[in-house]
Amino acid sequence: MTSTLFSPDRPALVRRLRAAGCVFAEDEADLLIAAADSAESLTDLVDRRVAGLPLEHLLGWAEFCGLRVAVDPGVFVPRGRTALLVAAAAAVAGPSPAVLDLCCGSGAAALVLHHRLAPRWLAAADVDPAAVACARRNLAPLGVPVYQGDLFAPLPARWRGRLDLVVANAPYVPSDAVAMLPPEARLHEATVALDGGADGLAVLRRVAAGAAEWLAPGGHLAVEVSAGQAPTLCGILADAGLDPSVVHDDDLEATAVTARRPG
Ligand SMILES: C[S@@+](CC[C@H](N)C(=O)[O-])C[C@H]1O[C@@H](n2cnc3c(N)ncnc32)[C@H](O)[C@@H]1O
Repeated sequence: MTSTLFSPDRPALVRRLRAAGCVFAEDEADLLIAAADSAESLTDLVDRRVAGLPLEHLLGWAEFCGLRVAVDPGVFVPRGRTALLVAAAAAVAGPSPAVLDLCCGSGAAALVLHHRLAPRWLAAADVDPAAVACARRNLAPLGVPVYQGDLFAPLPARWRGRLDLVVANAPYVPSDAVAMLPPEARLHEATVALDGGADGLAVLRRVAAGAAEWLAPGGHLAVEVSAGQAPTLCGILADAGLDPSVVHDDDLEATAVTARRPG
């Protein structure tokens, strides 16, 4: 149901979106109609959608794990498969954990963990200023700080060796494969959000090394990768002194790895 003051031609809109390759054309039509406040703004939204802009960037939000997350232009759109990472992270968290959402993008994972866990401390961090601004919009109302910088570098030093849970959906697409991503990602999300270096694991190698320092004994790192990368990543985590464990969800086509710091 929409409360538009104009009368959009929904069937024509659906046909146009479908012809442009939008798989869920009916749903998208309804969302775009609801987002428009005039016939002109609807035409503008549909034109930009047909030209390839991600729906979420046009709407200004994405649905993630049942929550509405603000997503600004250029910022990584939270993917449905990352629900597995969040679930795996929540499953290994103890009571009142100190939690970091590293490589936070919009801050979607932190937002969900704020609701699922009762963290005694929760923070997020990202290197991209656009992502940090977006995450602050999502997290500042909850009192969750968002730091800007390379991985663990911007965090308050007092948390070194004291974090119970580090969640990191870091970039893991091999550099050569970035050109084969759908245009919505390749053209409208920052390269720093996608490109994981030669084998896709360059950032995650550094996350593993940092986690070994920043986790408390008994704390966990939780990361997302492709199924094919999981064995190599487990070796990297073990070399960093962490005990890895892989979870996979066929329906979500998602793989997450949790790794415990012994002690
Ligand atoms: C795949 S996106 C995931 C965003 C968010 N966690 C999510 O699931 O929607 C990866 C994020 O990692 C950030 N990133 C990449 N390299 C980084 C680094 N060295 N330090 C901190 N953040 C980094 C990017 O800016 C991007 O926001």
